[in-house]
Amino acid sequence: MSTILVTGAARGIGQATAEAFLAGDHQVIALDRLWQGSSLADHPALQRVDYDLQNVDGIRSMIGDLPPIDTLVNNAGILYVPPHDQFPVAQRKEILAVNLEAPAELIESVLPAMKTSQTGRIVNVASVAAFTGHPDLWYGITKAGILNMTKAYARFLGPHGVLVNAVAPGPTRTEMYEQLPQSRKDSVMASVYSGRACLPSEVAQSIYWLGTDSPAYVNGATIDVNDGSYPR
Ligand SMILES: NC(=O)c1ccc[n+]([C@@H]2O[C@H](COP(=O)([O-])OP(=O)(O)OC[C@H]3O[C@@H](n4cnc5c(N)ncnc54)[C@H](O)[C@@H]3O)[C@@H](O)[C@H]2O)c1
Repeated sequence: MSTILVTGAARGIGQATAEAFLAGDHQVIALDRLWQGSSLADHPALQRVDYDLQNVDGIRSMIGDLPPIDTLVNNAGILYVPPHDQFPVAQRKEILAVNLEAPAELIESVLPAMKTSQTGRIVNVASVAAFTGHPDLWYGITKAGILNMTKAYARFLGPHGVLVNAVAPGPTRTEMYEQLPQSRKDSVMASVYSGRACLPSEVAQSIYWLGTDSPAYVNGATIDVNDGSYPR
C-alpha cells in the first residue's frame, strides 16, 4: 500500500484519480482549496488537506506535516480564457503559480524522501494545449512548461530510482471544460475521432498506471489522452 498525494482532488480529474487510488487500496491524501460541493466520498484511507496552491512559499512546510509521499500527482490547475492582449495580471499570476510554480515546489518538497528511499513516482497533468499555439495564452504556456518540467525532473531523479511522467488530456468532462464558450467546444469536437469528450476516469486510469505499475523504463514520458483533439 502506497501513499498518494493528489492535488486538485475535490472534483474533476483529481477526484477521479483519488477514487482510482482508493479503489486500488492505496492511502490517498487529497489536496484542494475548495471542498464545498465536492462529491469525493469519505473513505478510511482518505485524508483531506485544505490548501491553496497559490501559496507556493508554504508548500514545503505543508508537505513536512504529511507522511512520506510515494506518488505525487500534480493535477490541480486553473484556466482563464480572456484574449491574449487583455489578460488580467492577477489571472496570469494565478495561472503561473498554480499550474507551474506549485507543481515544481511540490516535487522539490517530496523528492528528499524519495531520494532517500530510492523509489517514488510523480505524475504531472499537462494538456493537449501544450502542443499547439493554444488560444488561452497563459494556460498553454504553463502546460508546455510542465512537460519540460517532467523531462527535467526525470533527468534529475531517474538516477535515484524516481519516475517522473505526464499525461496530456484532451477535452475532459469537468467544470474546467464546461466553462469554455460553445464555439470553442464545437471547434475541439470537430477534430476528436470519437466525437465525445473524455471521461475523468479515463484520464485517472492513465495517471494510475504511471503512478503504480508502469515499467521503470517509462520515464520522462507523456501519455496523450486526447483522441485526436488538437485544437485549431
Ligand atoms: N478538463 C479538461 O478538458 C482538461 C484538459 C486537459 C488538461 N486538464 C488538466 O487537468 C487538471 C484537472 O482539471 P479538471 O478538468 O479536473 O479541472 P476542475 O476545474 O474541474 O478541477 C480542478 C481542481 O483544482 C483545484 N484547484 C484550482 N486551483 C487551486 C489552488 N490554487 N489550490 C488548490 N486547488 C486548486 C480546484 O478547486 C478543482 O477542485 C488540470 O491541471 C487541467 O489543466 C483538463
